[in-house]
Amino acid sequence: MAVDSLIPSASDAFTADVSQRLDEIERRLVQAAEADTAFATSAAQHIISAGGKRFRPLLVVVAALMGNADPEDVTKAALVVELTHVASLYHDDVMDDAELRRAVPSANAKWGNSVAILIGDLLFARASSVVASLGTEYVALQAKTFARLVQGQLAETTGPGDADPLEHYLQVVADKTGSLIATSAVFGGMVAGLEPSQLDALAAFGEEIGVVFQLSDDIIDITSQTSGKTPGTDLRAGVPTLPTLLALRSTDPAHARLRELLRSDLSHADLTEVLELLRAHPAMDAAKAEVRRRADSARGYLAALPDGESRRGLEALCESMISRSE
Ligand code: IPE
Ligand code: IPE
Ligand code: MG
Ligand code: MG
Repeated sequence: MAVDSLIPSASDAFTADVSQRLDEIERRLVQAAEADTAFATSAAQHIISAGGKRFRPLLVVVAALMGNADPEDVTKAALVVELTHVASLYHDDVMDDAELRRAVPSANAKWGNSVAILIGDLLFARASSVVASLGTEYVALQAKTFARLVQGQLAETTGPGDADPLEHYLQVVADKTGSLIATSAVFGGMVAGLEPSQLDALAAFGEEIGVVFQLSDDIIDITSQTSGKTPGTDLRAGVPTLPTLLALRSTDPAHARLRELLRSDLSHADLTEVLELLRAHPAMDAAKAEVRRRADSARGYLAALPDGESRRGLEALCESMISRSE
């Protein structure tokens, strides 16, 4: 995704600087996926080359521009978070039995689950190599983040048990998505030499915008025909999302049919009816309102950061997150 669509108000010079750094990160990502055989290389480059928004590298770069960072460290920090992210996507598509990723066939659809799992592992290993070259504080934070991501995916898999489903879900989202997005912003601040209190602000901002990002992704999974993923993938896999959890909470008899469908096994069902009912349900507006509320809260944390184009860029990004799901 181009910088100017996420940060539309940035100056031309800022946009050009960020874009140039992202281009270099792009080149290095493809290089980091090189492996010992032509097949392993092409399987590892498959999802990387298919694109993606590069949201996490963007956060690294914009946060790093708040201070004085060595450009090579910025590139490495961005590589670590995007390689970790892409690796988790290889695994996530196995878990969700997803056929499409970034508008191309998922690795599991193309080569089967074993290859997808192993390529995910290979990319995690590449992320480890790069983070090792940044230093032990980076390794420690990366390890903590990765553990949170995995525990979030695991909690999603095992379900809420006796816990409140909505609270469980929000914790899952913070862990599986918020953690790595928070770390992207913090890594940017670390390479830029920001103060601990400023790193804390970046962590709080990143975690909240990460949750917003996943919640808006959940909404898009229901509303969009052009996300590069099959609409209703979460529904089919039985993955709860904010709109479905809110719809299940309501008791209005007018929406009984939707609740019945949401409680049934949709893995092989025709999703046309459930998508239509869900799109027309007030839960969609309630979910969008939650996205707005949290995006505003994310923006609030930025007040502790140095004023300048980077901070204004992150503020604009909060706005983009809202419009993305509307
Ligand atoms: C998809 O992440 C998985 C989530 C955690 C929501 P992105 O929406 O960042 O996916 P890409 O990188 O743009 O493909
Ligand atoms: C993906 O979550 C989160 C991670 C990869 C850690 P989802 O399963 O909700 O994301 P999509 O919809 O497949 O991108
Ligand atoms: Mg998925
Ligand atoms: Mg998933």
